[in-house]
Amino acid sequence: MVAAVTPTENRYERLPDDVRSLLNSRLQMISPGDNPLPPPATAKPPKAQPVTVSLRNVSKTYDNGSRALVNVNLNIGKGDFLFVTGPSGSGKSTLLKLLYGQERPCSGEVVIGDQSLTRLRGNRLAMVRRRIGIVFQDYKLIPRRTVAENVAFVLWAQGYTRKEIHRRLWPTLKMVGLQDKAKCFPDQLSGGEQQRVSIARAVVGTPPLLLADEPTGNLDSENSLQVVKILKKLNSIGITVIVTTHNEHLVRLSNHPVVQLRNGYLRHLRQ
Ligand SMILES: Nc1ncnc2c1ncn2[C@@H]1O[C@H](COP(=O)(O)OP(=O)(O)OP(=O)(O)O)[C@@H](O)[C@H]1O
Ligand SMILES: [Mg+2]
Repeated sequence: MVAAVTPTENRYERLPDDVRSLLNSRLQMISPGDNPLPPPATAKPPKAQPVTVSLRNVSKTYDNGSRALVNVNLNIGKGDFLFVTGPSGSGKSTLLKLLYGQERPCSGEVVIGDQSLTRLRGNRLAMVRRRIGIVFQDYKLIPRRTVAENVAFVLWAQGYTRKEIHRRLWPTLKMVGLQDKAKCFPDQLSGGEQQRVSIARAVVGTPPLLLADEPTGNLDSENSLQVVKILKKLNSIGITVIVTTHNEHLVRLSNHPVVQLRNGYLRHLRQ
């Protein structure tokens, strides 16, 4: 018997290998058994819903014995903006990976909205992830795709219509100040511009939660300020934002809550 193939799967199968693997890493599959493309093509875009994030007594030690987080408790309300600071190796990226379900805690519970990630697998985990935008320090853009294609790509792969992609693309590029660069390729952009493409890509699906891992780590101070300004603008329209950073200066310039990680232990520096 021939298995039914949805239009979304067809699109996915037709992609070149390198694009497919970049898309997979973007969608952050948790295990090879998971379906990389959660929804059928006819699915409506997910509605923004209230998000609260909780880590309850969360500890994480990697298989090689590296202790990344120790008994972390943290509550983040809908619409909050939180800075996570701490030296290299203190557990910042691990904390974000747990929130995204890319890593699992060894003990304790991670809750997004009303869903505990502890037992979520496959499509149900993928559905939660679709409501989370992620910005990586190293951008992770697709090299042979234009700015517009990079931003549109995830929507396209998720089965959004051309009309809906178009409707979302241009205001998002405008919001990050890149409407004039839509046809450029990543290697024709500055680092700050590339980071803004990655922010546009993370938010074009209007996720209620945005996780940004060192989004200013490779930028000079002017570009760093610009990136933080965009993150604040997104927060002002209701997106919950969690940003990790080494940059104490950026943290001091704002009055948002700050937590600090040290050797995996979390403490509140500013409420
Ligand atoms: N996949 C992994 N396997 C084993 N150990 C890991 C892994 N990822 C991180 N670690 C270890 O866990 C600890 C926390 O790492 P993490 O990447 O969360 O730190 P970080 O605060 O993000 O550091 P940086 O500021 O350098 O990005 C470190 O000791 C690191 O070596
Ligand atoms: Mg890190």
